[in-house]
Amino acid sequence: MATNTREAHGDLVLENVTKEFADFTAVDDLSLVVPRGSFFALLGPSGCGKTTTLRMVAGLEQPTGGRVLIGETDITGTRPHERPVNTVFQSYALFPHLTVRENVAFGPKRRKAADAMRLADDALELVQLSHLAARKPGQLSGGQQQRVALARAVVNQPEVLLLDEPLGALDLKLRRQMQVELKRIQSEVGLTFIHVTHDQEEAMTMADTVAVMNRGRIEQMGPPERLYDLPQTAFVANFVGQSNLGVGRIHGTDGDFIVAEVSDTKVRIPKQRSEIHDGQVMFGVRPEKVRIHESQPVGTGNDVRAVVTDVSFTGVATQYLVTVPSGANWTVYEQNLDVEPISLRPGDDVWLSWDPTHAFGVPVDEDGRKAALAEDGA
Ligand SMILES: Nc1ncnc2c1ncn2[C@@H]1O[C@H](COP(=O)(O)OP(=O)(O)OP(=O)(O)O)[C@@H](O)[C@H]1O
Ligand SMILES: [Mg+2]
Repeated sequence: MATNTREAHGDLVLENVTKEFADFTAVDDLSLVVPRGSFFALLGPSGCGKTTTLRMVAGLEQPTGGRVLIGETDITGTRPHERPVNTVFQSYALFPHLTVRENVAFGPKRRKAADAMRLADDALELVQLSHLAARKPGQLSGGQQQRVALARAVVNQPEVLLLDEPLGALDLKLRRQMQVELKRIQSEVGLTFIHVTHDQEEAMTMADTVAVMNRGRIEQMGPPERLYDLPQTAFVANFVGQSNLGVGRIHGTDGDFIVAEVSDTKVRIPKQRSEIHDGQVMFGVRPEKVRIHESQPVGTGNDVRAVVTDVSFTGVATQYLVTVPSGANWTVYEQNLDVEPISLRPGDDVWLSWDPTHAFGVPVDEDGRKAALAEDGA
């Protein structure tokens, strides 16, 4: 190949990428474009194909179909060191016998950069570890080791930096700190970051764009607010935050709304917020958009009877679990704006209401059916 693939630059493009292991398809005809310099998150449950996707970008695995490109340069089939790509894994894989500084200088030295040590020092400054440069990895905390691993990747100025659950080994507080740190570092260096996680909060707080993966495919991709506000599948509605769901049949329209019947209750869904316009539809509304009342509210448009099954005070909010007429368990969050004590108790009959403009409609599928009838409401 005449072009030097290590010099490739531009957006990362996956074109119909498939990976089959024997008779199992781990990644299924996946296409996406990650704009150069953006912070992109791949989010999905265990086994959905996230690591396999990253490994194909890194060259550690070759696709059984499709192409991987950086800008105009096709890098499919090239080996890892021929790609301008570095990976930070969950296990930091630092060299234990080298100091922090030598660990970071390793890449630049190997490619014979004259100023390897200075580059290493700059990278350590970026991750705020200059003061620990002379230590060995064994003398660092988990979070510090994670920063060294990051510095060791960033120092190579890769076109694309892959992060596979890099914060997985850290405790919750350190995780939150490192999320903020990673975001700062990404905006400072301006490299393309692809961050893999099964933690939806982590994906949403860090990334410009989140791709939700399920069974080797991308279900939906977009800015975090958009995924949360308008999920397009039942899987996304449940994986990105929580949703209250119900299976309904569409009866007609009312102005800008479609009208569906869910367990003898008529609900309205804005036409523009529904993927489905006739037949069966999965109706959804987010827990914080639902209000709970002790008596029937007037003039709300949508209201449903329910029975309280659990009340949990969480400080800023109270979470109610209720059973709706379909038998499904719904969750309602009420912000604790008043100091009045909560008067509702398990077993109480209540009314639920919501502004119909917040409802959404997605196709009915097995994921959704299960979620709509989930016994534990989780
Ligand atoms: N070398 C392999 N041979 C056979 N099957 C494999 C191989 N590598 C991965 N798989 C399978 O492919 C699927 C996707 O694996 P992958 O490691 O990409 O998942 P993941 O989304 O990264 O999950 P996790 O969140 O648990 O890390 C899994 O079902 C896995 O068992
Ligand atoms: Mg993985």
